[in-house]
Amino acid sequence: MPDPDVFEQSLAHAREVARLRGPRVSLGPWQPDDRPLFAALNADPETMRWFPSVLDRQQSDALADTIEAALARRGWGWWAARQEDGEFIGFVGLNVPRFEAPFMPAVEIGWRLARAHWNRGYASEAAALALDYAFGTLALAEVVAFTTVDNLRSRRVMERLHMRHDPADDFDHPALADGHPLRRHVLYRIGRADHFNLFNERTRRRDAP
Ligand SMILES: CC(C)(COP(=O)(O)OP(=O)(O)OC[C@H]1O[C@@H](n2cnc3c(N)ncnc32)[C@H](O)[C@@H]1OP(=O)(O)O)[C@@H](O)C(=O)NCCC(=O)NCCS
Repeated sequence: MPDPDVFEQSLAHAREVARLRGPRVSLGPWQPDDRPLFAALNADPETMRWFPSVLDRQQSDALADTIEAALARRGWGWWAARQEDGEFIGFVGLNVPRFEAPFMPAVEIGWRLARAHWNRGYASEAAALALDYAFGTLALAEVVAFTTVDNLRSRRVMERLHMRHDPADDFDHPALADGHPLRRHVLYRIGRADHFNLFNERTRRRDAP
């Protein structure tokens, strides 16, 4: 597999963490005050149901450190997601996965929100902002998303973004042991042309008299 670090370096970088704004949700840099809220969502067994385990405070802070370092390095990544009043609701954004799989190297889109903010369309709104950035600013040809087969909430977000699933792309996540119940993963893809055709359609509909 081509070196993911070399792949990441080939992508556009920004000096400052990008800030993206939608009608109800914004994406941008993390704040120190986000840490306890992030730890609470990472400790919630329902939010972490489709991950190998919940995270304790130390593990959650270590993850936030990694996320902030990546954002500082390239200006994009797992952005802090906020609702209109600025409250931290989780993360949504883009990442370069580091494991071996047939579809690598790739940029993935992903999300993890606190349960109190589910079912309001926030994940879908924020993810659409991240896709606009991926295809507009980064000029990527394709973005992928993946999750364990039974994570239907996450798959619905992928489908709402018009990402396509081909069962031929399904794969076993190499970080999970043979026989682990979460090992089998689905892969969704969307290409630049498909995203912008949909973007234009949304804009036409919004601007229609
Ligand atoms: C996956 C996850 C981000 C999805 O969050 P979500 O709240 O279900 O997704 P959205 O914010 O897009 O909300 C969509 C739902 O809100 C409803 N909704 C309510 N008001 C809405 C509005 N104004 N606009 C759009 N949708 C709205 C939709 O009907 C939709 O319901 P449906 O899924 O039954 O069709 C969330 O469940 C999560 O963080 N899960 C844990 C972490 C995880 O699994 N991450 C993915 C790992 S790969």
